Amino acid sequence: MKEKVSAAPSHPGKGAQRSGFSGKLGYILAVAGSAVGLGNIWRFPYLAAKYGGGMFLLVYLLLMVTFGYVLIMSETALGRMTGKSPVGAFRAFGKSLPFCLGGWVNAVVPMLIVPYYCVIGGWVLKYLVEYLKGSAAALAGDGYFTDFIASSGKVEFWFLCFSLLVFFVILAGVKQGVERVSKVMMPVLVMLAVLVAVYSVSRPGAWEGVKYFLIPNFDNFSWMTVVAAMGQMFYSLSIAMGVLYTYGSYIGKDVDIEKSTAQVELFDTAIALLAGLMIIPAVFAFSGGDMEMLQAGPSLTFITLPKIFSSMGVGALVGVAFFLMFFFAALTSAISLLETSVSSLEDEMHWGRPKCCLLMAVVMMVVGTTSSFGYGIWDSVKIFGLAFLDFFDFLTNSVMMPLAAFSTCILIIRVVGFKKIAEEVECSSAFRRKKLYNFFLKYLAPVCIAIILFSSIANVLGWITL
Ligand code: TRP
Repeated sequence: MKEKVSAAPSHPGKGAQRSGFSGKLGYILAVAGSAVGLGNIWRFPYLAAKYGGGMFLLVYLLLMVTFGYVLIMSETALGRMTGKSPVGAFRAFGKSLPFCLGGWVNAVVPMLIVPYYCVIGGWVLKYLVEYLKGSAAALAGDGYFTDFIASSGKVEFWFLCFSLLVFFVILAGVKQGVERVSKVMMPVLVMLAVLVAVYSVSRPGAWEGVKYFLIPNFDNFSWMTVVAAMGQMFYSLSIAMGVLYTYGSYIGKDVDIEKSTAQVELFDTAIALLAGLMIIPAVFAFSGGDMEMLQAGPSLTFITLPKIFSSMGVGALVGVAFFLMFFFAALTSAISLLETSVSSLEDEMHWGRPKCCLLMAVVMMVVGTTSSFGYGIWDSVKIFGLAFLDFFDFLTNSVMMPLAAFSTCILIIRVVGFKKIAEEVECSSAFRRKKLYNFFLKYLAPVCIAIILFSSIANVLGWITL
């Protein structure tokens, strides 16, 4: 199966072989491309606003340079060592049930994320179309978003539009084209985001928001801050879902895994910070740091952005530009997620591509539709007190990803051995933070993951309140 490209999201070149990235830059761009998406612009700001501002940021950064670093390194090294995506990589070390489970828990996560990712993608598409139709003022009005997500038919419609686009791109094979467009769009997005962030931070009253976002206040700490920050770190860096195994399997032995890990982390965090600076200070400027607004959750970005744009005076123009790029960032990530899911099914079930796509279409319809309806006609249905979308988000980010990360750690500690990972990394460069890696992997990661996993589950089951 050496010639498969199918699982190489954001593949920069045409290379149809394992180790097909066109050099180091190609690899970094591909991973960064898959890392930057809704997670940075939509998910990070709302979680930071909700779970303690500066405190959340601090915990997030700490987790990223410890766990994040160890996990990206490990997954990439294992991928490169075995030349396989997660299920295959786990099986390369053993055939018994735990290996199977370990691989699959990694592989299933993207299948569960992609449906609700497309629901949010639908929200973005809807906003883009409204801006194009010139409804900038209406979008900035109070209650617009709440009314929108409560009208389930509309949400479902936009979800279906977005999903059809994703399927179309995958089936028609125009993925490369879309990715090329998005390579141009991404730098423009960053520049626009800088502009909007500067504007947002300089509003009267916004300074309080900057302080809330950047300065840790221990009063705002709760255990949920840690759980949310860890979930977000996995999500944003695309860790613990098999993607990096797959990427790792495509890179050549000359890529400095350690350095590229650092670059990807830096880039991803910079964008998340920028998004935080656009949104959180604006909440303070426009609603005086109203706690209820800060707690708005998944809707925060969609409520705040149109308000900033309209107050900029050039609302329609900036709105169209921004949501267009937001849309491309979401589309490329959604394509990668679906592609990863389909190729795991192809590899493991030995089904044809159409059959795998069909199965994913069914999963997307079921999970996506429940997520779309969850804030509207089905808002009385709650799973552990969470609406469907929040539930799937919680299930994947706070339960399954820690499990996936845990299995990767155990695989290395118990089976592969630290020495082999070090050898793999040293193929291309010196392993500069070898001791640190070893320490984090052996002592810190598994224990913390286990604690976080249990406490997040206990929290939803109502055993403890975090
Ligand atoms: N990291 C992406 C984001 O921030 C989301 C994501 C998670 C993703 N897993 C992925 C994207 C796999 C591509 C492939 O939005």
